[in-house]
Amino acid sequence: MLTLPGLIDPHVHMREPGATHKEDWASGTAAALAGGFTLVLAMPNTHPPVVDARSLAAAQAAAMAGARCDFGLYLGGTVDNVKQAAGLAGRTAGLKLYLDQTYGPLRLDELTAIAAHLAHWPPARPIVAHAEGRSLAMVMALAHLHRRRLHVAHLSRADEIALVRLAKQRGWRVTCEVTPHHLFLCEEDLPALGPGRGEVRPRLASRADQQALWKNLEVIDCFASDHAPHTLAEKDGPTPPPGFPGLETALGLLLGAVHERRLTRTMLVERMASNPRRIFGLRAQPQTSLEVDERARWEVRAAEMHSRCAWSPFEGYPVRGRVTRVVLRGHEVVRDGEVRAAPGYGRNVFG
Ligand code: NCD
Ligand code: ZN
Ligand code: ZN
Repeated sequence: MLTLPGLIDPHVHMREPGATHKEDWASGTAAALAGGFTLVLAMPNTHPPVVDARSLAAAQAAAMAGARCDFGLYLGGTVDNVKQAAGLAGRTAGLKLYLDQTYGPLRLDELTAIAAHLAHWPPARPIVAHAEGRSLAMVMALAHLHRRRLHVAHLSRADEIALVRLAKQRGWRVTCEVTPHHLFLCEEDLPALGPGRGEVRPRLASRADQQALWKNLEVIDCFASDHAPHTLAEKDGPTPPPGFPGLETALGLLLGAVHERRLTRTMLVERMASNPRRIFGLRAQPQTSLEVDERARWEVRAAEMHSRCAWSPFEGYPVRGRVTRVVLRGHEVVRDGEVRAAPGYGRNVFG
């Protein structure tokens, strides 16, 4: 048995309020615990989006009632919420800026508004950007000009990791996360996935991009699932929304990479626990750990998962390590692989 600290996922979508047929706090945090995560930071692209005091209060209430593991909530930046957002910073995990088109209504395109958020958001809490390609270069430069640290969400390409590597070498305060799906899948997997199921932002990239991520593991601060559940009916329908579920496959995939010596166990723990804790200023969760049967080999089966979306882009994929027991704040929340924490057990770490 391998004992690990409670894992932290700094990038998940819980879909509540507004789209609980995809996921809600109870199902999404059951998926988190089953995957070994004791703390998740949830994105603001819900319906309504979390952009002001009222929507933040509603999202907090839903999370407090439903969450089985600990959580924090992001606030989304819009063209007209700069001052309001800054005033709410202390109650949030950070400010999320969507600088490219993705799922939900929060795309921010106006340079003035982006710069105003970077100028006014309190420095104690991080700013996280969905920024691909040129958007990434733009927001990194702006953040640097404003002497502001920046966390880059789901980085996926060779040119992007090269940019972050160079920025770090120059002493810019930038951190980044990479998803398991960009590490383990590439555009060559699209035919097998099918057009709708393969939709994700950032898109699955080239094999060379994928290899660049593995070659630059030391530049990657966190592994984040970007758990973005949509139902199969939606994925296979006429307008498939982008996004993959990921909470229940992340650890197994990465432990598979540890087994293949593409990654060390220490690097995994840094990227899935200690680095996110430091970057997001998260207090230690006392008496919290997991036990993993490191030798267990299994194949991904969406039918066995807790996420309501009931599918996985990794169906049938061979993975390693079973989460058998999770203790969260002294309570056994997973026993013999079974989730036992009730909805409402989870705490808002910024509450
Ligand atoms: C995310 C979603 O569905 O909320 N989709 C995705 O493809 N990653 C949005 C996002 O993280 O960009
Ligand atoms: Zn995104
Ligand atoms: Zn996301």
